[in-house]
Amino acid sequence: MKRGFVNKTILMGAFCILVLGCGRFGMAEDYEPERDYESGADEDIFKEPAYPDYLVLVNKEHPLPDGWEEGIDIIEMTNSRGNVVEIESTAYEAFLELQYELTLEGVSIDLDNAYRSVSEQEWLVDTFTEKYGEGYVEQYVAVPGYSEHHTGLALDLYLIVDGEEMYYNEELTEKPEVWEIVHNNLADYGFILRYPEGKEEITGYSYEPWHIRYVGVDAAQQMMWQGLTLEEYMGEA
Ligand code: DAL
Ligand code: ZN
Repeated sequence: MKRGFVNKTILMGAFCILVLGCGRFGMAEDYEPERDYESGADEDIFKEPAYPDYLVLVNKEHPLPDGWEEGIDIIEMTNSRGNVVEIESTAYEAFLELQYELTLEGVSIDLDNAYRSVSEQEWLVDTFTEKYGEGYVEQYVAVPGYSEHHTGLALDLYLIVDGEEMYYNEELTEKPEVWEIVHNNLADYGFILRYPEGKEEITGYSYEPWHIRYVGVDAAQQMMWQGLTLEEYMGEA
């Protein structure tokens, strides 16, 4: 075997190990290393809290994990319509930063909905079935217990365009040029577009420009760069 070939092979192997090592398992914020609590030696190294698990996968196959709601910090905010919205606290901080950045780009967003209990999801299924029909609900609304809104990490946005609130799904789908600006900014603030066009078979839902999900900045950027849904990123597609 030629020496040049052996060297190239070694170099390529080292590159692959480096790339994989910097991938999902090495950089995700939810990585929880062993800690030396007694000496406190690692205090400066491990600044990111490991919980809640910002990569939690809740979809048609995966229900909300047992005990999830006891482990999260849910806060309340009031949106421009005067409605109180509940949301996980870190996701809310990130939303505020995203919202501010978007105002600089001339786009105004607000929060329609984030955390939903199982009984709120039941109400939504009933209301949407009455308004839009069963076929629509199958494509756009999760079965209670299987909605990632139960995690507090999924956000439904609405738009304020020329001072006018665009709130309903049918209004929101009419503004692709505004959503493009919103979506282009998501990853830098730790969000992904959870149900993108073209990935319906994988996510199980139709395209929802308004539904974003907090996963943390590292994971969101990797998913964006690689064009992956959360299912694909988690190896569940
Ligand atoms: N709209 C999403 C799928 C939900 O109901 O959780
Ligand atoms: Zn949603």
